[in-house]
Amino acid sequence: TDSLERAVAAFERGDPVLVHDAADREGETDLIYPAGAVTADAVARMRNDAGGLVCVALSDDVCAAFDLPFAQEVIDHPVGADHDLGYDERSSFSLTVNHRETFTGITDEDRALTITELARAATDPDGVAFASEFRAPGHVHLLRAAPDLVADREGHTELGLVLAEAARLPPAVVVCEMLDDRTGRALSPDDARAYAERHGLAYVEGSDVVRQLG
Ligand code: 5RP
Ligand code: CA
Ligand code: ZN
Ligand code: ZN
Repeated sequence: TDSLERAVAAFERGDPVLVHDAADREGETDLIYPAGAVTADAVARMRNDAGGLVCVALSDDVCAAFDLPFAQEVIDHPVGADHDLGYDERSSFSLTVNHRETFTGITDEDRALTITELARAATDPDGVAFASEFRAPGHVHLLRAAPDLVADREGHTELGLVLAEAARLPPAVVVCEMLDDRTGRALSPDDARAYAERHGLAYVEGSDVVRQLG
């Protein structure tokens, strides 16, 4: 539809979009940017307006080239081994990283640098020596997508990368959950839609992304 076209066009321009996964999944709306377009102001918007965790989703191919594991597989004790999630079969969490040219890694400038360098690295995964450019642990969470994206898993990790693919961008997007400052819970879809309208952003449902682009 209309809102999906708007979302792809926004990505092509480097603008963020809002994506609600599903009422029977997390029930969360993430603010999602193409990673290459992220500035310090965009990081400030994610922590002030969204309020969740700032994560970069990368494709399975890119993660394989960079030797990025799933976090649950490297935690060698029962907490990691028995990773039972209420809303999906598995978490997409991988490591946390900082670009080596950051200082603390947490400032808006530092996170924007880490995020844009991840996007650049994702354009040429085999040409990048990942460990010489990034250090772990860091302040940007990496998410490893399912190999066939939404055919395998319908998380924001995959939904965001489907939008990047439709916009012919490298497989690197930033996601951050919209939380409600009054309740501390996920922002409701109605409130997320109202935020999108107030700021001239596209809001899309995960099911529409899957149906039309998946
Ligand atoms: C990391 C998360 C978010 O929900 C993020 O959207 C990635 O997870 P998923 O792909 O499972 O939706 O928990 O902050
Ligand atoms: Ca806030
Ligand atoms: Zn999510
Ligand atoms: Zn979440």
